Amino acid sequence: MISRAAALLVVLGLTWKLCLACNDNSLPVTDGNGTRQLPVVLWHGMGDSCCNTHSIGAVRKRIQELLGGVFVHSIATGEGGPADSESSFFGNVNSQVEDVCKTLAGFPELQHGYNAIGFSQGGQFMRAVVERCQHTGPKAHTLITLGGQHQGVMNVPSCWNPSLNMTPSYVCSASARFLGWGATLPFIRTRLVQAQYFKEPHNIAAYKAHNDFLADINNDRDKKTPQYKKNLASLNKFVMFRFKDDTMVVPRDSAWFGWFNGTQLLTMNETALYKEDWIGLRTLNEAGKLVFDEIPGGHMHFNLEWFEDNVVEPYLRAPKHAGAKFLSS
Ligand SMILES: *[C@@H]1O[C@H](CO)[C@@H](O)[C@H](O)[C@H]1NC(C)=O
Ligand SMILES: *[C@@H]1O[C@H](CO)[C@@H](O)[C@H](O)[C@H]1NC(C)=O
Ligand SMILES: *[C@@H]1O[C@H](CO)[C@@H](O)[C@H](O)[C@H]1NC(C)=O
Repeated sequence: MISRAAALLVVLGLTWKLCLACNDNSLPVTDGNGTRQLPVVLWHGMGDSCCNTHSIGAVRKRIQELLGGVFVHSIATGEGGPADSESSFFGNVNSQVEDVCKTLAGFPELQHGYNAIGFSQGGQFMRAVVERCQHTGPKAHTLITLGGQHQGVMNVPSCWNPSLNMTPSYVCSASARFLGWGATLPFIRTRLVQAQYFKEPHNIAAYKAHNDFLADINNDRDKKTPQYKKNLASLNKFVMFRFKDDTMVVPRDSAWFGWFNGTQLLTMNETALYKEDWIGLRTLNEAGKLVFDEIPGGHMHFNLEWFEDNVVEPYLRAPKHAGAKFLSS
């Protein structure tokens, strides 16, 4: 069973490099009104790729149109569309995050900071970048997550094709099958992306012992990393959108740090993670820097008009003459 899985992974190609073709370094940073707009970094969701013109590629284009051609980097963890998409199923998230941190640090455009948006699983991955690299790399100002799985998932996510008609892709069905075998099996837990944020309420001991990604960034283990808290708490704002009719993410409240503990659904405020401020959420909340919002519809169902009105205008567009503030940071 393991060797068949290994063969498939090799065929799919586990190497991932950076999709530099996704960037256009020549874009101006000041909009038509002379206001400096902060650059934006996007991390796509499961099955998507950095530059898919039917999904995140269109989002990137719209942000640039609206904000005077601002620099937008859409993260790719695989080279080329198919490899990038595959790397959202197969790969080691810790290595992906580490590599993204290095890439972001290499962009001169980001040296005065950036706003970050994570789509679906890209939400918790982008948060990991902030927690692990905010003190060394460029600084995220506002972090926005749409349908993130901040407290993990307790189901095998159903397959979703972001580009067109939601036909489960072969890669996706394979990933769901592997996850069904057991998220904490040594072979699976370090190579299957979704296993790295799988949190089964009836087996928390195994999760704490073997989950090297979510349990780490959520400071769920007894040994905490204080830097994660410091880094997340340094955000100007952390905006979390939940999809109202999400059936793919179980529980959907994971998007708001809610968590089903085996007997009941706890809201963020009722979790130890919040109450004991393991990662800085309480600090942010008490400073009025946490925003919870909801998107009508199913997982990742939104259109560009919604995105413009609810994300770009309120959270990305810098107020007129705000350039000095960003430049002095
Ligand atoms: C300039 O400002 C106006 C009004 O605030 C706004 O409608 C327009 O989109 C801005 N232009 C750019 C390129 O951001
Ligand atoms: C879930 O949380 C509730 C409220 O804090 C608590 O009473 C209950 O014991 C918890 N269940 C488990 C299985 O930990
Ligand atoms: C947490 O509690 C505050 C009030 O203290 C409330 O405004 C907020 O909606 C709660 N957040 C969640 C995610 O439950």
